[in-house]
Amino acid sequence: MDEMKNKKVLITGGLGFIGSNLAHKCVELGAEVTIYDCLDPRSGGNMHNIHGIHDHVALILNDIRNFEGLCACITKKDIVFNCAAYTSHPNSMKDPYVDIDVNCKGTINLLEAARRFNHDCRIVHVGTSTQIGRMQLNPVDEKHPEFPADIYSANKSVSEKYVLIYGNAYKMKNTVVRVANVFGPRSSIKSPDLGFINYFIGLGFQGKDLPVYGQGGQLRNITYVDDCVEALVLAAQDPRSAGEVFFAVADRQFSIAEIAGEIAGNIGGKVKFIEWPREREIIEIGDAVITNRKIRETLNWAPRHGLAEGLVKTKAYFSQCLNKYL
Ligand SMILES: NC(=O)c1ccc[n+]([C@@H]2O[C@H](COP(=O)([O-])OP(=O)(O)OC[C@H]3O[C@@H](n4cnc5c(N)ncnc54)[C@H](O)[C@@H]3O)[C@@H](O)[C@H]2O)c1
Repeated sequence: MDEMKNKKVLITGGLGFIGSNLAHKCVELGAEVTIYDCLDPRSGGNMHNIHGIHDHVALILNDIRNFEGLCACITKKDIVFNCAAYTSHPNSMKDPYVDIDVNCKGTINLLEAARRFNHDCRIVHVGTSTQIGRMQLNPVDEKHPEFPADIYSANKSVSEKYVLIYGNAYKMKNTVVRVANVFGPRSSIKSPDLGFINYFIGLGFQGKDLPVYGQGGQLRNITYVDDCVEALVLAAQDPRSAGEVFFAVADRQFSIAEIAGEIAGNIGGKVKFIEWPREREIIEIGDAVITNRKIRETLNWAPRHGLAEGLVKTKAYFSQCLNKYL
């Protein structure tokens, strides 16, 4: 982690959930941070996410679909974290063209800007576990075939391949870290269209029902955001990560009903089992059981938070500033 001191770091999507937590960590480690974000209202971007570091980061309000904008700020950066994305599974089905533009074209823009103007920077791209789709082998590892069930996951799969192709073809130092159901401080807790754990946390704070579709028995991997950030920083520093894909997920899985129950117990609200809405049922993937063995063995990463520990920290954060998120 010491190696981040004085590093010039660009974080696309740095006003969003994962990007802003990463920005806080990088500032804490002594890096010079530039955030590039268009504050898309459909995403989890929030100006309050950089509260406390606002004066220590350079903020560029621009779109990753703007190639010139990216070219102008990618020069002289040591590390580029790509956290900008159109991040909603259901919205990607309603708005597939926007999803392609942001997740595919946006990633190509970033890669092409780096190839032309900063070939030697380290690029760490955030991927998603849902690229896998329905699990065919248990547990899922990085070699598992990908059959994504929604447009967002398909475009994340394709954009990951772009990152790897540029790495291989142009000898760039690119890495993908795939995460799953990330939860924690600075997440969007208001929108039902983004991560369900964070949405349930928001409902819990309001004392509302937590709607679980069907029996909620499907298993999910989780990642507490600090663990996710640590995986991204390690991947940026360790030369062994170049050209690699890693799953950074917690050690055990939880059913959706269990997750809802933990949130109700730790934060508030009441679990309510409801019928599957059609638009959710058609993109449902069933159980997901993923191993973190590769990132443990290669980068020495280990998740430090289970669900309960993560919820305690999340509650402490939002209790101080709930009005900025709800
Ligand atoms: N949160 C999760 O559970 C999760 C799970 C798997 C993968 N991921 C991946 O992690 C990354 C970050 O996700 P997040 O949860 O922080 O999402 P988020 O919605 O909170 O943040 C995304 C950020 O990107 C910005 N953005 C969106 N479109 C943009 C554009 N065209 N140009 C510039 N900025 C743009 C938004 O304004 C926002 O600040 C994404 O790549 C996402 O696919 C997240």
